[in-house]
Amino acid sequence: MGRLTLPIRPNKKQEEFFCSQHRYVAYGGARGGGKSWAMRTKFVLLALKHPGIQILLLRRTLGELRDNHIVPLQKMLADTAVYSETKKEFLFPNGSRIKLGYCDSEQDVLQYQGQAYEIIGMEEATHFTYFQFQCLTECNRYSGNMKEKFRPRMYFTCNPGGVGHDWVKRLFIDKLYRDGENPKDYLFIQSLVFDNKYLTENDPDYVAALSALPEARKRAMLYGDWDAFEGAFFPEFDWRIHIVHDPVIPKNAVLFRALDYGLDMTSCLWCAADEKGNVTVYRELNEKGLILSEAAKKIIAMTPKNERIRYTVASPDLWNRRQDSGKSGFEIFVSNGLKGLIKADNARINGWRVVREYLNHPEGVSKLRISSSCRELARCLPLLRFDERVREDASGHPHEITHAPEALRYALMSREPKNAFKRKPKFRRSLYTFDTPQREDGYDSIIQYD
Ligand SMILES: Nc1ncnc2c1ncn2[C@@H]1O[C@H](COP(=O)(O)OP(=O)(O)OP(=O)(O)O)[C@@H](O)[C@H]1O
Ligand SMILES: [Mg+2]
Repeated sequence: MGRLTLPIRPNKKQEEFFCSQHRYVAYGGARGGGKSWAMRTKFVLLALKHPGIQILLLRRTLGELRDNHIVPLQKMLADTAVYSETKKEFLFPNGSRIKLGYCDSEQDVLQYQGQAYEIIGMEEATHFTYFQFQCLTECNRYSGNMKEKFRPRMYFTCNPGGVGHDWVKRLFIDKLYRDGENPKDYLFIQSLVFDNKYLTENDPDYVAALSALPEARKRAMLYGDWDAFEGAFFPEFDWRIHIVHDPVIPKNAVLFRALDYGLDMTSCLWCAADEKGNVTVYRELNEKGLILSEAAKKIIAMTPKNERIRYTVASPDLWNRRQDSGKSGFEIFVSNGLKGLIKADNARINGWRVVREYLNHPEGVSKLRISSSCRELARCLPLLRFDERVREDASGHPHEITHAPEALRYALMSREPKNAFKRKPKFRRSLYTFDTPQREDGYDSIIQYD
């Protein structure tokens, strides 16, 4: 442990965070607890104390990264480290480095593959997917720049909700570990806005604004209740049950396609319904930037000539006339050879109930199977979240994960007689508890840190 005098005054929770040395430490769990401040200050302290240490600090988007970290760190380190805008990194005279990055899209995380950082920080970790977290754990290793021995660590700040709610909750709140995960490696330090006197004293309106949030959001953001938002929209989804390699399609199966067209993403699923009503999704197309005619041609090209597709069910907005051409998407599809289009039943809540029924697997058997080649559908289905306002609907955020599931909804609705699923779904709910908020009174400006 080292001692350092700096004009910084962490509160008790932040001090606990500064002293933590577990392999994985999550901090926060609610809004305004001083998470971002704690993360960047901790990383400066680590850089100063451990010469040569390589640190990566990540947020989901560049805008958030700039406002939350680059600008405050530039102020804080003006006389201490050199900042490179092109590399987005602070270099310290002792060889330490704080690199700042962001992962806008899921694949952006791959740019860090092959790199090595003794410390990795994921700010707002619940905005990252489990895949991104796993990729980053591979970069969390000895970089070769340090003279001393140092056990790599990862730090997380987080609020409930978001695409990464489930994995953060599993590891740090529920503490349900899988093979290969050592429970002793994980530490959660809860901090609430009440722990942050800089906000409560200087901006009491902020606490009032949190108190005025809709109930579920308030429970999550003010009191750090991880059960306020249900996690996955489809907890029924299970890779072992729903994903199959090389599915066998019965000869008499009805083959059809389901299409969610958009310039930002065209999602098309090829499906087979057997005589018992089971549906297998055996092929998918997910591509950005296809104009209507290109999408039509691509779908035709991906369908072997001997495959007899009965119909293609598509989102109803395809029938709307476009202002630019005066033609509807439907007409453009037909004129490019894609025939047999029918309008999807776009009733969202009923549609999701139907999907839930298909995913249900009371005895380990489900009516829906997805070929392992349909990677985008398999990736997006478990990532869907509940809409915070309309409890039975899926959230439209992040938008990029909604396309393939929407196409699946159209597909399954096309197999159901209208109003077949009126039964109310059972949502999981649990009582919530939260720690009594703590207040700090007096701080020591000489802090123990590591
Ligand atoms: N120990 C501290 N010393 C000085 N200022 C602090 C301290 N802790 C927090 N603050 C200030 O309190 C405000 C809120 O802190 P911060 O942005 O770190 O909270 P947060 O938990 O990240 O919030 P959000 O949930 O909105 O991301 C900021 O202005 C920050 O600089
Ligand atoms: Mg923050």
